[in-house]
Amino acid sequence: MPEPGRRFRLSQGRTPLVKSATELGAVASQYEKWVYPFPIADLDAPDVRTLRDGGDFERNWHTFWPDRPFREDLDVLVAGCGSNAAARYAFNHRKARVTGIDLSSASLAHEAYLKDKHRLDNLTLHQARIEEVSGLAREFDFIDVSGVLHHLPDPVGGLKALGGVLRPEGTIAVRSMGSGAAPASTCCRRCRASWASAKASRMY
Ligand SMILES: C[S@@+](CC[C@H](N)C(=O)[O-])C[C@H]1O[C@@H](n2cnc3c(N)ncnc32)[C@H](O)[C@@H]1O
Repeated sequence: MPEPGRRFRLSQGRTPLVKSATELGAVASQYEKWVYPFPIADLDAPDVRTLRDGGDFERNWHTFWPDRPFREDLDVLVAGCGSNAAARYAFNHRKARVTGIDLSSASLAHEAYLKDKHRLDNLTLHQARIEEVSGLAREFDFIDVSGVLHHLPDPVGGLKALGGVLRPEGTIAVRSMGSGAAPASTCCRRCRASWASAKASRMY
């Protein structure tokens, strides 16, 4: 397992990462030095198998899409995925096509380690900013953005960028922190007013 906080070259390992022309700022520098959360070594370990992100679409299916039968083959974006979350979605939902983006190459290197270890062919990783997500030229059924928006200089702009790559019946699960940051509820209220395509954004 890579050591937490160690810097990795993007070319390391078998998994190529697509690097944007992103200029690293203070937030990126922090997460290059201290990856978050603590890297999981084995997603198949008994005490890890039960871990899910709070917004996991399977657990929350009837809240997100009350009028639809469950299906797993979604296009999923984990925006600001950190060291584990995108790989965990791909591991727990093998039929889903999962994309993880983050600023931090150190965090993405651990995601790449998990992808290789568990042969997660359904996982794609990009080093990219949420603000530039339209550059992926993709659309998603479900977006998880957890613990990230409060880092953005313009959280509402970030959420709107995510709304721009959300399919019409899609759902965004938002978790944000910090009393000084724009609360997630405010972001969602402001965005909902301007999203013609997104049916709903949801918080957990
Ligand atoms: C607190 S961690 C959350 C990681 C993951 N979402 C989770 O819940 O385990 C925040 C992550 O957001 C990333 N991040 C911060 N600003 C970002 C931005 N503008 N675009 C993409 N990623 C960003 C950081 O590099 C870091 O890995």
